[in-house]
Amino acid sequence: MKVLNIGSLNIDLVNRVDHIVRPGETAPVLSFARFAGGKGLNQSVALARAGAEVLHAGAIGADGLFLRELLESEGAECSGIAVLNDVPTGYALIQVAKDGENAILVNGGANHAVTPELAEKALARMTSGDILLLQNEISSLPEIFRSATAKGLRIFFNPSPLTPEIAELPLELADTLLVNEEESAALRAAVPEKFAACNTVTTKGAQGAEFRSPGGETVFVPAFPAPKVVDTTGAGDTFTGFYVAAIARGEGVRQALTEGAAAAAIAVSRPGAAAAIPRRSELEICK
Ligand code: RIB
Repeated sequence: MKVLNIGSLNIDLVNRVDHIVRPGETAPVLSFARFAGGKGLNQSVALARAGAEVLHAGAIGADGLFLRELLESEGAECSGIAVLNDVPTGYALIQVAKDGENAILVNGGANHAVTPELAEKALARMTSGDILLLQNEISSLPEIFRSATAKGLRIFFNPSPLTPEIAELPLELADTLLVNEEESAALRAAVPEKFAACNTVTTKGAQGAEFRSPGGETVFVPAFPAPKVVDTTGAGDTFTGFYVAAIARGEGVRQALTEGAAAAAIAVSRPGAAAAIPRRSELEICK
């Protein structure tokens, strides 16, 4: 089963700091690095490193060609990535504190120039039963949800970062929502009926991850101990990519949750987002 990810591609500008800067404070940067990122790109890298057949569609500016090259080098099919002349690539301004926690500002750039037409070309390459993975960092999501549903695709949606517009999306068309605990609580409060209509996979940090079906079936998997926490950026994306790759391979929910949790525990022990994602062969449970 193929996975199409219509997703964001960002340039991550990562600043290591002592602590996340407080309102009104000016703080020194201890070190700086530029990484490939974006929830979409990170999740495609995770899918590919988990062994999935992945197609990525989205938009970058001329300054973001290295992002497409990186995805191609991972084995993702990238003909659905448009290079726009008049819009810069999206970027994320990231602070990573000494304890590994992060704070992220995202400027959408070309990710917000994804049109229904661009998405349609990518969707036309998929067949009924294939998986579509989406995050909340691109434009045209309502049209993409509806078109993918008409084509019989299974939609896995990671609604990060949460924005007020999410409530207007036809979330009930999603097969599965992949959320953290805060997102779960916010969506359950804002759109209870849509939320209850979907499978949910909730990551619970150091506790673990839980699947819940609309019928009330639950599957819980405890977190794997992280060897050390260096940078939590992209840990959720790593989980999502490994979870969806396992489902695409035909695994059950428990195995998919376990592979997602094991991969995320490795990712937080390394710097960067996409750069930190392990290969499936590195997972002890898969050796
Ligand atoms: O989930 C981490 C990602 O969020 C970063 O790579 C950044 O680009 C933002 O999209």
